[in-house]
Amino acid sequence: MSGLTITPWVVGNWKMNPMQANAQQLIQDLKQQLKQNNIPAEACRIGVAPTTLALLSTQAQFSDAASEVFTVAQDLSRIAGTGAYTGEVSAELLKDSGIEYVLIGHSERREIFGDSAKVVADKVKNALAAGLHIIYCVGESLAQRESGQAEQVVLEQICDISTVVNADQWTHITIAYEPIWAIGTGKTASPEDAQNMHAKIREGLSQITPAGSTMAILYGGSVKPENAVELAACPDINGALVGGASLNAESFYQIARAFAQTK
Ligand code: 13P
Repeated sequence: MSGLTITPWVVGNWKMNPMQANAQQLIQDLKQQLKQNNIPAEACRIGVAPTTLALLSTQAQFSDAASEVFTVAQDLSRIAGTGAYTGEVSAELLKDSGIEYVLIGHSERREIFGDSAKVVADKVKNALAAGLHIIYCVGESLAQRESGQAEQVVLEQICDISTVVNADQWTHITIAYEPIWAIGTGKTASPEDAQNMHAKIREGLSQITPAGSTMAILYGGSVKPENAVELAACPDINGALVGGASLNAESFYQIARAFAQTK
């Protein structure tokens, strides 16, 4: 446990959702919730990660929200700068459009789209060079957990990027621990299991950088209003990366409120 107060982050990963009309409604509903009972940024930082297509419109729509809601890209190119790379969006292009945050290393990118440790490290390097803040996702599969390798896998994923992060850049990184078996399955890691892993992650980070004691470590994997209070009560769980439940404004708001009130 860090012993210091770390402002929690609650970030909604909308993944390849929703259609336009539902996105408009979701944004309006979330703004309404925040208007009725706002959550100050000192209590909990709130972000959403829409599709690349919707990044700028989402950011514009939240610009007059009662609480700040920052906009996060779900991924970026492993190629930096600009050039003939059809279909790609680089760190520089995100930054140039006013997008300051990016998810890197989500297990869906690693598993479905084949992002290797090298590709993930290249993305981290590019994002940092462009001045973006990264939410770096780590997590083990069920087979890895059952064979007792969970901790090793997660710490290796952190080591994978340590060679491309300069000493002064760790403050630009937030970690999200997302056990793959808990994503979209309704199974959440127990608060004890999650806290144990978060403490190991913090220990590992602290061996790499003094910033380790103050970096936010988010939990992701079937976070819902029903389990958010218990997760928020764990000392090394400094927020949540929320998938399914972030597509419902009321659920997402309740999760953010749980972290804002517990921390
Ligand atoms: P769920 O909350 O739907 O399990 O998704 C978690 C996740 O992958 C967030 O990035």
